[in-house]
Amino acid sequence: MDRTYEEYKEIINKHLLDFIPVIDNKSISLYDSMKYSLTAGGKRLRPILLLASCEFAGGDIKDALPYAIAIEYIHTYSLIHDDLPAMDNDDLRRGLPTNHKVYGEAQAILAGDGLLNTAFEAMNKDLMMYFDEPEQLPKRIKAAYEIAKGAGVRGMVAGQTSDIESEETDISNEMLEYIHINKTGALIKAAIKAGLYLGDPDPDMIERMDRYAENLGLSFQIADDILDVVGDAAELGKNVGQDQKDHKNTYTSINGLEQAYKRLDELSDDALKAISDYYDNAEFFANLIRELKNRSK
Ligand code: IPE
Ligand code: IPE
Ligand code: MG
Ligand code: MG
Ligand code: MG
Repeated sequence: MDRTYEEYKEIINKHLLDFIPVIDNKSISLYDSMKYSLTAGGKRLRPILLLASCEFAGGDIKDALPYAIAIEYIHTYSLIHDDLPAMDNDDLRRGLPTNHKVYGEAQAILAGDGLLNTAFEAMNKDLMMYFDEPEQLPKRIKAAYEIAKGAGVRGMVAGQTSDIESEETDISNEMLEYIHINKTGALIKAAIKAGLYLGDPDPDMIERMDRYAENLGLSFQIADDILDVVGDAAELGKNVGQDQKDHKNTYTSINGLEQAYKRLDELSDDALKAISDYYDNAEFFANLIRELKNRSK
């Protein structure tokens, strides 16, 4: 497991469009709008986590690629829908005008639908390819299940529901963390778990990486909240100050910046504790959470 973040990213970007089926020319706007948001850029965090976790658990990234790309399709769909006027109403994403600004709201909704369904088509196609090799199926089924669960109604979609519903209301820290853990943490955790399952993890590794993933997921959204206050739009590729404009409850709006940084420290310490003393090849994961903290300074 000695690939860098950038090396994983190159693999993802190279294969990003491989799993989009041929779409009838009569519906070419669908392909164009899906491709627009996918290729606009992005850190590719979730698919990279999936590939790295697979290798960490002794697996082969060739097995993990369809699942990694699928999770980036799901993530990209979630961004397109998150930016819609009915949700966060944003007009800049990944350094470009948001999908609905270019293709219109109806097509942006459909681009999201297309990406979500294509993700499941890609994972199911992979399962079908191993129909005659039953010993290859359990790990793939587990990976697909983790992704479906994290993206769905007890993960991201649930978190997005509470995020929208709690605009302009006062909520507790417990509710805030529930939102963050679900809207963002669940897909990040799913990426790590799916990747592990595609390798050959022992139960101890699953438990330790669960703890790492939960800390990373919550940290990631707290860092995102911080960056909406202190970040730079050109660097982030999205507008800042949006959360205040939307009267969102964020870690910073409820607790202030200082407390947000403190919570980041706590979470990253616990993430490191879960892995550092147990593995001599977990540098990738340790560096990742350290860099996340640095990025939000
Ligand atoms: C943005 O995710 C939405 C959140 C969950 C905070 P990323 O910050 O990973 O966005 P990209 O993929 O790099 O554009
Ligand atoms: C987004 O949270 C979580 C998603 C599931 C997309 P945000 O609404 O804070 O993400 P940004 O700041 O728009 O990227
Ligand atoms: Mg949002
Ligand atoms: Mg948003
Ligand atoms: Mg945000």
